[in-house]
Amino acid sequence: MNSIVSGPAPDVALADALPRLGFGVGLRNCHYEWLLKNDLDLTHEPSQSPQVDWFEIISENFMDNHGFARYMLDRVRERYPVVMHGVSLSIGSSDPLNREYIDGLKVLIDHVKPAWISDHICWTGIAGVNTHDLLPLPYTEASLRHVVQRVNEVQDILQRPLILENPSTYLQFKSSDMSEWQFINALCEETGCGLLLDVNNVFVSAFNHGYDPEHYIRSLPHDRIVQMHLAGPTHCGSHMIDTHDTEVPRQVWKLYQLAQSLVPDCSTLLEWDANIPAFPVLVDELNKARQALSGELPGTDLEYQPPASGQAAPTVVSTPIHHNLQVEYAESD
Ligand SMILES: [Fe+2]
Repeated sequence: MNSIVSGPAPDVALADALPRLGFGVGLRNCHYEWLLKNDLDLTHEPSQSPQVDWFEIISENFMDNHGFARYMLDRVRERYPVVMHGVSLSIGSSDPLNREYIDGLKVLIDHVKPAWISDHICWTGIAGVNTHDLLPLPYTEASLRHVVQRVNEVQDILQRPLILENPSTYLQFKSSDMSEWQFINALCEETGCGLLLDVNNVFVSAFNHGYDPEHYIRSLPHDRIVQMHLAGPTHCGSHMIDTHDTEVPRQVWKLYQLAQSLVPDCSTLLEWDANIPAFPVLVDELNKARQALSGELPGTDLEYQPPASGQAAPTVVSTPIHHNLQVEYAESD
């Protein structure tokens, strides 16, 4: 593993150095009962039922958790590959790296032995305050130097490459003098880190900022992409919000087809974090990814649905806030 830690990207494609896992979903506590009743055996004849090949966990939900959630995690990892996905590394913050958090991550890594670990190209707080949101970075040479140094530091501590996800964003910095894809290319090249391509995030950010999502995907370092995310956002008319609370729209499936043509067999994960459906429905949605790769274009186009006259537009929040509120409510029950 040391040969692909920290420093300029080696000649070998990271996508070739890590396993290709197939099609997976996030492990969520609302599905524990279903998973236990079905003996965690989701593998059937393809003609009978789609299968889940792997699970992704939110790392923070299992750090310092040795209760039922940890029990379920252990049952799942007995049968399936597991990937750890974090939301609190805050790799772009000007706060010092949170060593307590990273040490906790390392303990969980030693236990789970994930195929890889990921987080986001973002910052989540400042002065020790966690906003529980994934905030955008200015794309400048100075912030690139800052993030490169911190990614290298984290990779040296964890002794493995970090896989970082492109964020969904709602604002851009006037000071940015490079595009997001240029920033990502330089970050991957200088640190050897990998990329988790969230196709839905590209769709959301491209709409919000008015750039071409296909050009974005074509411009990425494809040999560094080891995983893709799919999710459904909310169209708010003037902008889109990354809500993870609905089906994947057709526009995202189309971008996914493009991404998979550039990175064949890339591990695919369906994210659904609010208004989460029953597990079989989730798997049906995941199965559309297989459909998409066979040439069909699933889903329906996402269009703005204005509120009925006299009704106020519903409040829409992005997933990290939603997710953390759910966790807090669950803990206070
Ligand atoms: Fe994502």
